[in-house]
Amino acid sequence: MSRTVYVNGAYVPEHEAKVSVFDRGFLMADGVYEVTSVVDGKLIDFAGHAKRLARSLGELEMDNPLSEAELLEIHRELVTRNDVSEGLVYLQITRGAADRDFAYPEVARPTVVLFTQHKTLVDTAAAERGISVISIPDERWGRRDIKTVQLLYPSMGKMMAKAAGADDAWMIEDGLVTEGTSNNAHIVKDGRIVTRHLSNEILHGITRAAVLRFAREAQMEVEERAFTLDEAQAADEAFVTSASTFVTPVVRIDDAPVGAGTPGPVARRLREIYIEEMRRAAI
Ligand code: PDD
Repeated sequence: MSRTVYVNGAYVPEHEAKVSVFDRGFLMADGVYEVTSVVDGKLIDFAGHAKRLARSLGELEMDNPLSEAELLEIHRELVTRNDVSEGLVYLQITRGAADRDFAYPEVARPTVVLFTQHKTLVDTAAAERGISVISIPDERWGRRDIKTVQLLYPSMGKMMAKAAGADDAWMIEDGLVTEGTSNNAHIVKDGRIVTRHLSNEILHGITRAAVLRFAREAQMEVEERAFTLDEAQAADEAFVTSASTFVTPVVRIDDAPVGAGTPGPVARRLREIYIEEMRRAAI
């Protein structure tokens, strides 16, 4: 079945959607993106994603072509037209088409593309059984706080994990865990959640922010600081957060089982709270 996608103001069948070969997203990875989850046909934390999108665009001196209300309208229209009850809305904005040049073009009209993907998010095997990760060096650029479409290294990391028989990879820089290939990394030791502080070194996850808020509301202790790979392997629990995984337990890091090697109570509880609260607040 063909999806309806959104391209620069029009809703079109996916095989009719077109973007210029001169688009700077294609030539220079000069673009940003967001992934918003859909549960019960409603958007999870739309406002958080819209806010980070505006920040990413601002950091790259790109104009935001759409208001938050317009953006919401497009997300909802695509969810309806494609009959998505559970899944994702992918949004990408690039600087647009211009003759190839390293300098930003003086005038370019941003390219805006959105599409949906059906995906099971709530009842997943990964959440039930937990996932395994390998550690790899973090070889990405230094502005990971901007959600750009230059995802080749995370993609290579995912392939390294696959080749090693693992589900994903955690990236290490100066002996410290930065984040997962497409999620934020967290550990639990003696009931306390330890998660890397925000900086240019990691993406400021929208799910991370919500989960930490819920954890604090539930009187759990949260410490925002970098942690080592050794610390993670010796932790009681580990988990990742993202729009597509919510809260998913990590039960093995390289050759070491984390805790009992099965999903722990903190990660399970946080996943429950996150899904319950976000379902209630979805729009
Ligand atoms: N990835 N860190 C990285 C490097 C990410 O790519 C993502 C999201 C996150 C989590 O951010 P959030 O909670 O806002 O989804 C952290 C998305 C899901 C993706 O690329 O598909």
